[in-house]
Amino acid sequence: MSQRQVVEVADDGGDIAKIVHDHGFPLPIFSSETCIDDVRSVKIRDDDILICTYPKSGTHWVFEIARELLSGKITDDNVTKMQAFMEMVPEKGYAGLPSPRILSSHLLMKHLPDDVLNKKIKVIIVLRNPKDVAVSFYNFLKSLPYANYKGEWKNYLRPYFQGKFMYGSWIDYILDWEKVKQDNPDLPVLTLFYEDIKEDQMREMRRICEFLGVERTDEFLSKVCDNTTIASMRTLKKRADSEIKVFRKGGVGDWKNWFTVAQNEWWDQHYQERMEDSPLQFKYTL
Ligand code: A3P
Repeated sequence: MSQRQVVEVADDGGDIAKIVHDHGFPLPIFSSETCIDDVRSVKIRDDDILICTYPKSGTHWVFEIARELLSGKITDDNVTKMQAFMEMVPEKGYAGLPSPRILSSHLLMKHLPDDVLNKKIKVIIVLRNPKDVAVSFYNFLKSLPYANYKGEWKNYLRPYFQGKFMYGSWIDYILDWEKVKQDNPDLPVLTLFYEDIKEDQMREMRRICEFLGVERTDEFLSKVCDNTTIASMRTLKKRADSEIKVFRKGGVGDWKNWFTVAQNEWWDQHYQERMEDSPLQFKYTL
C-alpha cells in the first residue's frame, strides 16, 4: 500500500491547504513522486555536506554561501538548493554531481539515510526566529499553486503552530535536531542562525569556511557577500515556477507587521510551554 496520501488541511476559517502525508508526515505536493522511502535509501558519500533546516529559515541563502565558499568561485547561475533537495529530487537527479555535493532537506533525522550518522557527514543547520519563520511560511504556502491555500493570516497561525501544514511543527523539528546533536556528539554539525548572518555575514562565513575546511581571503568573502544579497539572488535565481515566493523580504522582524498583540501573547505562552527546557535563544529584532 502507498505510504503517500493527499490530505486537505483546514485552517481556523475553513480554508483548505492541500498537502501529502508520507508515512503520516506532512509534506508539500511535489511535482515528483519522490517519497521518504526513496530518501532513506539515497547513497550518501563520505564527503557529502547536508544542509538541514525547517522551511523558510534561510536555506537558499546558506546553500549559495556554502557553495561559493566551498568551490572558491563566485557563481552567477540559477542553481539553488533545489539541485539536491532530497525529498523532491529523485536521487538520479544529483547522483552525477561531483564531490563534495551539498544536499539539502527539511526532513527529520529519522527520515534521512542512516549513513548520515554512520558516515558522520558534515551537517549545517540553519535556525531562524520562529515568528519570522511563521510569516515567511504563510506567504510561501499561499504562493504554492498545488497547495491552493487562500486562507487569512488570522486563521492560519494556530494550525501552523500545531504543525498541521507541510513539515509539521517548527518546535518538533527544532527539538528533534537538538536531540540528534546531543545523542551524536561526534556528528560534525555547524549550527547557524539566520539573524547572525544578517548581523555579520563575514563573521558567519569565516565559521562556515572553518567548518568546511577551506581558506578564503577577506576579499573573496566580501565578493560572496555582494553576490548573495537577496536582491542579487532574486535576479540570479529565477525559477521556472517563479510565482513561488522564496526571495521575499529577507529581513529580521517582519513578524511585527503581522502578529496582533493577542496573537503574540498566545504564541509566547504556547512557545514557552514547549520550549522552557531548551537553551535555544532567538533574536526577534536586530
Ligand atoms: P522571508 O519570507 O521572511 O523574506 P528558505 O530558503 O529556507 O525557503 O527561506 C526563505 C526565506 O529566506 C525568505 O524569508 C527569504 O526572503 C529569505 N532569503 C532568501 N534569500 C535570502 C538572502 N540572500 N538574504 C536574506 N534572506 C534571504
